[in-house]
Amino acid sequence: MFLQSRILLLFTAFLILGSVRRAKADNAPPDSEKRLAVPLLDLQGTIHELGQNDEGAVRVFVFLSTECPVSNSYLQPLNKLQQNIDTEKVHLFGVVTDATVKRAEAAKHFEEFKLTLPVLFDPAGHLAAELKPTHVPEAFVLNASGSLVYRGAIDDTWGSVGRRRSGPSNHYLADAIAAVLRGRPIATPKTNPVGCLFESFSGGGDDAAFTFNRDIAPIVYSRCLNCHRDGQVAPFALESYEQVAKRADWIVSVTEDRIMPPWIPHPGHNTFVGERWLTDRELSLLKRWAESGRARGDEADLPARPEFAEGWRLGKPDLVVKMPKPFTVYANGPDLFQNFVIPVNIPSDQMVAAIEFHPGNKRVVHHSVLFLDSNGVARKLDRATAEPGYSNFGGPGFAPTGALGGWSVGNTPRRLPNGMGRYLKKGSDLVMQIHYHPTGKEEVDQSEVGLYFIKKPVEETLKEPAKLVGSIWMANYEMDIPAGESNYSRTTTYTLPKDVIMVGVVPHMHLLGKSMKVIATLPANENEDAIEKTLIDIRNWNYNWQDEYYYDRPFKLPAGTRLTIDAVFDNSADNSMNPHSPPKRVTWGEETDDEMLYCFFLLSAEKTEDLIHVIFHNLQHDAEQPRARISRAEGE
Ligand code: HEC
Repeated sequence: MFLQSRILLLFTAFLILGSVRRAKADNAPPDSEKRLAVPLLDLQGTIHELGQNDEGAVRVFVFLSTECPVSNSYLQPLNKLQQNIDTEKVHLFGVVTDATVKRAEAAKHFEEFKLTLPVLFDPAGHLAAELKPTHVPEAFVLNASGSLVYRGAIDDTWGSVGRRRSGPSNHYLADAIAAVLRGRPIATPKTNPVGCLFESFSGGGDDAAFTFNRDIAPIVYSRCLNCHRDGQVAPFALESYEQVAKRADWIVSVTEDRIMPPWIPHPGHNTFVGERWLTDRELSLLKRWAESGRARGDEADLPARPEFAEGWRLGKPDLVVKMPKPFTVYANGPDLFQNFVIPVNIPSDQMVAAIEFHPGNKRVVHHSVLFLDSNGVARKLDRATAEPGYSNFGGPGFAPTGALGGWSVGNTPRRLPNGMGRYLKKGSDLVMQIHYHPTGKEEVDQSEVGLYFIKKPVEETLKEPAKLVGSIWMANYEMDIPAGESNYSRTTTYTLPKDVIMVGVVPHMHLLGKSMKVIATLPANENEDAIEKTLIDIRNWNYNWQDEYYYDRPFKLPAGTRLTIDAVFDNSADNSMNPHSPPKRVTWGEETDDEMLYCFFLLSAEKTEDLIHVIFHNLQHDAEQPRARISRAEGE
């Protein structure tokens, strides 16, 4: 079959396969696109990652109030609406933003009315600032691309305040949801809401009014607690009033400097899945609370503490692949790249939506790359050595037939957006390459990785256009950074030969990396100048917090688009990460104290053959890149 043979070709091209929903975002007028890159707690203490619409769901926000009779009269109709929609495809939320209402009272109020939808408690007004409601109740419908497609009344039961019909004759909100699900235009995209006026009164505007329970706990619970609680990566818990209050100035300083929460890409036009960049509102709340006496506040304001899944952060994996035997890493010696070959037992091909790597021994595991081999080559390499796995410097030592991504310190497991996945062929071996950093004493490791599959036959996913995702990369291999140079910059460009859909971006540098910016310059046509899009902008690189960044809404880039990477390195003594003291000349290489300039891109395309063309074209481009002929020994 044509498609099958093409797909085999893809494997040999070391491809990361997957699928992606069609990007539609670019057709929408930009001002209707809503940037909701903020996690909010609901009244029950569940965190809703509004910046992470990885299910590609339609989202509906209905501003409610505990005091407005019209709002209350709509709680049962909202329950009914919730029962009649497919809650996988439509996420329906109530929103309460009145800063004078206690969380506990609001929770009690909606319990009494037996409201079944989650109610986001947002006294800081994040959602109101973005959606600008005028009344309660008022409904907002955002399509899967994040564009506002309906705002206004739930239905026409209320003609005006005090004039209530026996029942509605127009179901505006339900109709809008039905239309957007069918991809049809919405007959009435805007109606006048009837109810109580929406007022954003914040309780007096006096700084003394800021309290931990009301203003700070929601931020700390939704932004910090996943790492800052017992047993997690951060060095101390930020859970109780005391734990936060005693560090308030420190917290203000590290949040303002964007050191915490760890998230290095600067916000741009496109939001990334799971973005952790604090909003100006959150920064200002932290600061004003710290400066105004760190009040604890009323117990009734305190949000319920979120529950976190222990063990696997993404839930129970479909398959766990574990190193068959523990491996002992020597106490002293050079960095070790050990490849463990593990058969994957699956009855049929799968699309892998996410992986979650668990280092067996965090002291010694530095990073891991997961290759696939369906040719049995890696097994042979393994059998040729006595120890578990085999060591190889640089790559895996064979031509992989696929890959599932990787893990490094600071990486957070996430699902690819909207049903995307990487291709996993039945009968493949997973080659878990682990980079070990000897610690000075013998260490034992037995790492494992959880795989999460797309619950749909692979053939079905492959039939749809723009579902397949492959990877390309750009690099500059000519690094030669003089000792003491604080502003060593390198650029590299690549022009896309076909139309593609950009799905994700993975920048990579080592300890001297300072900044990296990747720009796409779209080709100019007759009436327009060339358009530039920033794909990622890292102004303050941090080797410890590199990640894979997936766009919340993948977007199109036409053939002829030029990708440009500008990277800057700091090899001075002022760089606190500099591995050499005093600084030494540093060249390209794999070891942590060498340097690298890579950026990987996850791509899809409307036509499979276009994607294949781009991948081979990119391989050729990479082969033609100049390589500096400086060996590590000469560099030293
Ligand atoms: C993804 C995990 C993660 C999240 C989310 C996170 N932290 Fe941290 N935090 C860490 C780790 C790990 C450290 C230890 C220092 C390091 O490794 O950089 C740390 C250190 C700190 C420190 C000490 C300063 C330092 O540089 O050592 C403060 C203060 C702090 N975090 C505050 C916060 C606050 C406030 C939030 C939420 C707004 C937050 N962190 C969110 C992981 C996290």
